[in-house]
Amino acid sequence: MWISFAGIITNYKDVKQFLVQKGHKFRSDTDTEIIAKLIKHIHGLHPNYSFRELVEQVIQQLEGAFALCFKSMHFPGEVVATRRGSPLLVGIKTKTKLATDHIPILYSKDSPEKVELKEHSKLKDTQSDHRPHGHEIPAHGLARSQSTSEFLPQGDNKEVEYFFASDASAIIEHTDRVIYLLDDDVASVEKEGVLKIHRLKRTLEDTHAREITTLKMEIQQIMKGNFSSFMQKEIFEQPESVVTTMRGRINFDSETVVLGGIKDYIGEIRRCRRLLLIACGTSYNSAIATRQLLEELTELPVMVDLASDFLDRNTPIFRDDVCFFISQSGETADTLMALRYCKQRGALIVGITNTVGSSICRESHCGVHINAGPEIGVASTKAYTSQIISLVMFALMVSEDRISAQPRRSEIIQGLRNLPDQIKEVLELDSKIQEISKKVFEKKSLLVLGRGYNYATCLEGALKIKEITYMHSEGILAGELKHGPLALVDKGMPIIMICTRDNVFVKCMNALQQVTAREGRPILICHKNDQEPQKYGSSVLEVPKTVDCLQGILTVIPLQLVSYHVAVLKGCNVDCPRNLAKSVTVE
Ligand code: UD1
Ligand code: MG
Repeated sequence: MWISFAGIITNYKDVKQFLVQKGHKFRSDTDTEIIAKLIKHIHGLHPNYSFRELVEQVIQQLEGAFALCFKSMHFPGEVVATRRGSPLLVGIKTKTKLATDHIPILYSKDSPEKVELKEHSKLKDTQSDHRPHGHEIPAHGLARSQSTSEFLPQGDNKEVEYFFASDASAIIEHTDRVIYLLDDDVASVEKEGVLKIHRLKRTLEDTHAREITTLKMEIQQIMKGNFSSFMQKEIFEQPESVVTTMRGRINFDSETVVLGGIKDYIGEIRRCRRLLLIACGTSYNSAIATRQLLEELTELPVMVDLASDFLDRNTPIFRDDVCFFISQSGETADTLMALRYCKQRGALIVGITNTVGSSICRESHCGVHINAGPEIGVASTKAYTSQIISLVMFALMVSEDRISAQPRRSEIIQGLRNLPDQIKEVLELDSKIQEISKKVFEKKSLLVLGRGYNYATCLEGALKIKEITYMHSEGILAGELKHGPLALVDKGMPIIMICTRDNVFVKCMNALQQVTAREGRPILICHKNDQEPQKYGSSVLEVPKTVDCLQGILTVIPLQLVSYHVAVLKGCNVDCPRNLAKSVTVE
C-alpha cells in the first residue's frame, strides 16, 4: 500500500487504539500509518470491495482535514484519491483532444454502509459481501458507461496520464488541464485509464459534474529559473511580490488605500469590540509584526493567537468580534478549524490568504488575497512580507477618516512606495551573508534578539533557521533577557541582534551591552551608517531605514538568507525540509 497524505487526522488516536485492539502493529507514530492500516483492516473484512469502496469506507472513519492518494498492489494500475478540507486536483494529460470539458459525478448509491469501528462484529451481520457491485448512478440519470466513456480522449491515441497534486504548480510542467476536487469527492483511475469521480451522498447544492479547467499560469512564473531552489527564488522575488500585493490598492499620490475585498465591511469593522488575529507558524509571526500598528491606527484591542492554542482554550468569541485568519495556502487545518469555531459564534470572519478559492477564502465573509504569486518552497518567505503589507494596508484603510492619524498614514504610505528599492538593496547583502553563514553553520544553536517591531523578525528568523537548517534557534525578546535567556550568553554562543533606530533603540542598546558584557559577540543587523551599535558587533549587516512599522520587512530578509545559506552549507533540502512534508509507505 502506498499513500500520499497531506493534512491532519484529528481522531487518529481513537482509530489507532481500535486497530491496535484488532492486533495491528505500528511502526511509526504518524497519522499516515493509521490510514494504511485501516484500509488493510477493512480489506481483510471485505475482500470483495473495490479499491474505491475501500477508500470510501476509510474516509468515513476519518476526522480532520486531509488530501489522500492511494495505490495498492492488490489493485494494480488503479489509483484512488480524495480530499476533505485540504486541496487536491487531478491533472489530465492526453495526446488528443478530450471529448468533454466536464466529468459527471457518480453517486455510490448501493455503497456499503459505514463500517462501525467500535463494534464492527455487528457489521458482519448487517453487511453482505455479495451485494452487487457498482450501482453507480450519474446525477442526470445517464447510464454509467454512457457518461464516463465520453471522458476518454478522442481518436486513435487513447493514451492518458493523470497527476494528483495539492497545487497546480506541481504539475504545470506536464499538463495545464486540471479538475479541482471538492470535499469528499473520491476520484478513481480504473482499468483502461478511465477516470471516475464518485460521491457517497448526494447533497442539494451539489453540481453534478466537475469542470476541466485550463490553467493560464505562466510556466516560467513557477519554475525555478536561475535559482538553485524555490526558496531562494522566492526570497529574491520580494522586490516584485510586494509590488503585486499593493498593486491596484494603494494610490501613492492621493495617499488612499482601498482593499476591494474588505471595503464593504469597513463600517462594521470600525464598530467592533476587538480584532483577533489567528494563525500558525510564519503567518502568526506576520500578526505579531503588525499588531502594534493595528492597535495604533484602529484604536481597538488586538489579540494575537496561535490557532492550535486558541482552539485548546475554548476562547470566548462574541458577535461583535472581528476575526482575521492568516494562511498562505488558505488550507492550514488548525486555522481553518479556528475559523469555523468563530464563525459559529457569529463573529465577522476575515481571511488573509495567498490562494484564490482556498477553504479559508471560501469560508470567510471577506478578506484580502495577498497576491504574492505561488509559493512553492515549504519555508514561507515572500508570503510573510506580503502578509505584513496586507495587514498594514488594512490598518491604513480603517484609519482613513481619522484626521489626527493623517501624518502617520502619509509617512507609512510613502514608506511602502520606497520599499521595493530598499528590498533590492538588502538582497545585495547576499554574498556577505553567505560568508557570515560559513561562520555559524557548524554551531549547535543560534539566538536571534530584538524588540519592538523587530521582535516578529526574531521569531520568524528563528523559525526559518529551525525549519530548514535543523539547527536550534530561538527568537528572544530583548526585554526578556534578564529574566532567563541571558544565562545562555557567553563567547561561544552565536547571536544575531537587531538594533534599528526606533522608539526602543535605547533599550536595545542596553540589551546589546548586557550581551557584550558576557563576552557575547553578536552579528548585528542595524541601519546603514549607524556607528553607535556597530562597535559592539562581530560583523554587521546594514539595512536601509524605513518607517518603524515596515522595518521588519527589511530586517527579516537577511535572516531568510542566513537560513538559506546555512541550509545549503549543511546539505539540507531547502525546499522540502524533513518531517514537514508528510508521505510514507507502508506494506
Ligand atoms: C479583485 C480581483 C482581482 C481584480 C480586482 C479589480 C479576484 C480574486 N480578485 O481583487 O483579480 O484585479 O478585484 O478590482 O478575482 N476574500 C475572502 N477571503 C479571503 C480573501 C478574499 O472572502 O481570504 C474575498 C474578498 O472579500 C473579495 C474576493 O474574495 O470578495 C476577492 O478578494 P481580493 O482578490 O483580495 O479582492 P480585490 O483586491 O478587490
Ligand atoms: Mg469569502
